Amino acid sequence: MTIHSTFDPTNVASIIDTAAPHNKELPSVSIVGLGYVGAVSTACLSSLGHKVVGVDLDEQKVASIAAGQSPIHEMNLAEMLTAGVTRNLISATTDLHGAILDTDITFVSVGTPTAEGGGCDMRAINAVATTIGQALKVKQAFHTIVMRCSIPPGTTCGVMVPIIEEISGKIAGQDFGVCFNPEFLREGTAVEDFHNPPKTVIGASDEKTAAIIKELYAPVDENAIISSIEVAEMVKYVDNVWHATKVCFANEIGRICKPLDVDSHQVMDIFVQDTKLNLSPYYLKPGFAFGGSCLPKEVRAVSHLADELGVSVPLIDSLTPSNFDQIDVAVNALRSSGAKRVAFLGVAFKPGTDDLRESPVLNVIEAALADGLEVQLCDPAIEKGAHLDTQLAYLKQSCPHLQRTLANFSNMLSNEPESMLERCDAIVVSQKNSEFRQLVSEQMNAKTIIDVVRLFDERPSHDNYFGIGW
Ligand SMILES: NC(=O)c1ccc[n+]([C@@H]2O[C@H](COP(=O)([O-])OP(=O)(O)OC[C@H]3O[C@@H](n4cnc5c(N)ncnc54)[C@H](O)[C@@H]3O)[C@@H](O)[C@H]2O)c1
Repeated sequence: MTIHSTFDPTNVASIIDTAAPHNKELPSVSIVGLGYVGAVSTACLSSLGHKVVGVDLDEQKVASIAAGQSPIHEMNLAEMLTAGVTRNLISATTDLHGAILDTDITFVSVGTPTAEGGGCDMRAINAVATTIGQALKVKQAFHTIVMRCSIPPGTTCGVMVPIIEEISGKIAGQDFGVCFNPEFLREGTAVEDFHNPPKTVIGASDEKTAAIIKELYAPVDENAIISSIEVAEMVKYVDNVWHATKVCFANEIGRICKPLDVDSHQVMDIFVQDTKLNLSPYYLKPGFAFGGSCLPKEVRAVSHLADELGVSVPLIDSLTPSNFDQIDVAVNALRSSGAKRVAFLGVAFKPGTDDLRESPVLNVIEAALADGLEVQLCDPAIEKGAHLDTQLAYLKQSCPHLQRTLANFSNMLSNEPESMLERCDAIVVSQKNSEFRQLVSEQMNAKTIIDVVRLFDERPSHDNYFGIGW
């Protein structure tokens, strides 16, 4: 049964009528925490034909779900809960222990509010983990725990699992399954989103658990993404921070446009049509600082413009300092390596250009020279000669902070990378190309590698390899 292709959120009958008949083959589910997430999950999983037991401490919510009434305002939810109760698929209780014994899978969607001090309040998770541990201690059958709360990465395996393992005496990934399945439903359209999810992510402790939850979601998404639990936890945070970034970015653009009498909606309508560079994976992988002749200059220009207009744009203003922080990470990595002779693979701000303007690696080179390191440079696009001399003369005028680098540039530049690497004890690689990949691979065991561009798809596990954000 494929629901998403026929799903019409305005026609709740279409969900209820097309739902699978109660099928003994489908795993039964208990859902602990009947708030916004839990109530929607209860209704939607029952609409797929699962027997669902809702659990909460709040007796009013339990009574409401058991009666097929929605405890919250959410489009189509009340009708779906009523249908689930009528079909004997939905029940509700305050007894989590009993619900775990009676079901195959437990979804955890208790509240994780901000704690004093800004962290995450784990009290509900700790309480639920304790009861799960007690229930699993006496349960023979394999049980799967699905964490749905928004929690800091590492919480599922670092907080919840140890409590369950200690109390149950069982081992996660072997005696019971654990997964983190982030929740992407938007309040107001949560039921529709359940049936047409933007994506389904299953961070699982083991293959069996991944397969169980993948099958559960197959009717609404056959292409669930499987990951580690920690990656799935982080995805949830990253999604929300990204959405918040988009909102603030668009609002700052609006604030700049208004006093200029430029229609911000027309601007952003055009902006979003660029799916090559704007709304795309481009620029969205951790790597080195931005540089070159455009981005740094234009960011400064927009900040300046906003300042002149008397408009506050803290997000845009934060870009330049954030970019310098990324350069500092590379400088600090080189310093803490203790290297005395360093080779830089890549000098221009990106491969395939000899443009040195605002190349961020120049700041790392300057710091290395200031620290007294012996420095050599290699860039396939940069050759000694008149053009380089012109560039250096221009930069000497505009970049006094790069004095040492510019004065010694031609002497440090080598077109023999192999012999250059032989002499160094650390390599900073700042451009991603196959030649550098090969060179760095050959030196992986011998030298300290500081990779600011994620040269390899697979993160190397060598002790002397340092990736700037991975
Ligand atoms: N609301 C959303 O749209 C949304 C979206 C994505 C993720 N989340 C995350 O999902 C989790 C749940 O969010 P929510 O908005 O549904 O929360 P909520 O506050 O609406 O509901 C939480 C429920 O958990 C119950 N509860 C607390 N401790 C319990 C316990 N020990 N045993 C049984 N029940 C208990 C509460 O009584 C409450 O009914 C949070 O971690 C939240 O960050 C929420």
